[in-house]
Amino acid sequence: MYRISLAILFLFALASSLLAAGPHDIDCKDCHSVHHAKSDWIIGVKPVTNPTLPENYAGKIGAMDAACLGCHNGSGATEVNMKMSHPVGVKPRKAKVPEMLLIDGVVACGSCHNPHPSNAAYKYLQIDTKGGKAMGQFCAACHPAQSDPTMTEAAKKLLHDASITAPLVKVAVKAAAPAAAAPAAPKPGAPAAPKPAPTAP
Ligand code: HEC
Ligand code: HEC
Ligand code: HEC
Ligand code: HEC
Repeated sequence: MYRISLAILFLFALASSLLAAGPHDIDCKDCHSVHHAKSDWIIGVKPVTNPTLPENYAGKIGAMDAACLGCHNGSGATEVNMKMSHPVGVKPRKAKVPEMLLIDGVVACGSCHNPHPSNAAYKYLQIDTKGGKAMGQFCAACHPAQSDPTMTEAAKKLLHDASITAPLVKVAVKAAAPAAAAPAAPKPGAPAAPKPAPTAP
């Protein structure tokens, strides 16, 4: 009996370790907040809008970047040091970025990564790089001028299920401001929001 339950326990542990494939198998609610969103895509993570950037950085930290950096700042998840990273928040100049990978017209963390647990690719990249062994193919998606043409073609084929969409609702991300700048409370006596029209029974 003891041995059977141990075997069952082992099988269960094995199955769940196979299912729990990636480190973003944190719960949905660790990134999304249904009623207390702080950013687009109802992201509930406190955004980091003012990371340290290189001098003369041409980019601008967008809502998604700020959300990722909210965890990836070394306090809980691997730090992404923007001073030493591929640019985000930049409009492509020489790079040929497929439309579907642009977020608000720029390259963001999510242009290269789809962070969802459903994405089984290495490091949540938008293209499967065979565990990082075919990284050139990934770079080729946006940098055809530097890439072997066969890789550029392969990248195009692999991109079909990249899943970036515009947020349905834009949630204001306040620029990094001192905590004192509290949002203005609605004035007493201000007109109430119009009631939705009653629907016919
Ligand atoms: C690591 C953070 C993270 C986790 C965990 C996460 N999400 Fe997301 N989610 C995002 C980001 C960033 C976006 C916006 C970019 C995108 O669409 O990929 C998003 C977008 C979405 C969208 C909109 C997609 C669209 O096409 O418009 C849905 C729906 C969603 N998430 C549901 C979920 C569910 C359900 C879970 C749990 C299984 C989950 N998310 C877990 C970060 C996360
Ligand atoms: C709620 C916190 C949280 C948010 C928000 C978050 N991550 Fe993560 N992420 C984690 C944790 C925890 C890990 C696993 C430990 C580690 O690598 O630091 C992780 C790991 C990763 C990894 C490494 C995966 C691997 O296989 O090693 C990547 C890539 C990544 N995150 C990208 C992103 C991107 C891009 C975003 C924004 C769209 C994002 N994360 C937002 C918590 C978060
Ligand atoms: C989603 C599209 C995209 C992907 C994928 C991508 N890049 Fe870029 N890359 C850009 C954009 C946009 C720029 C900004 C400059 C430009 O438009 O030419 C850039 C800039 C660069 C630069 C110049 C950095 C600087 O500071 O001037 C290098 C080097 C680079 N990328 C290398 C890579 C490598 C290596 C990979 C693969 C690991 C890669 N890129 C993947 C879009 C991308
Ligand atoms: C141009 C594409 C590109 C952009 C933009 C990008 N990443 Fe990545 N990221 C990568 C690649 C490629 C790797 C895997 C590197 C490797 O393991 O060789 C990676 C790895 C990571 C990792 C895992 C680090 C580790 O040590 O394993 C994290 C976390 C991460 N990215 C987060 C982010 C965040 C947050 C942003 C936005 C601020 C971002 N990335 C923007 C391409 C990109």
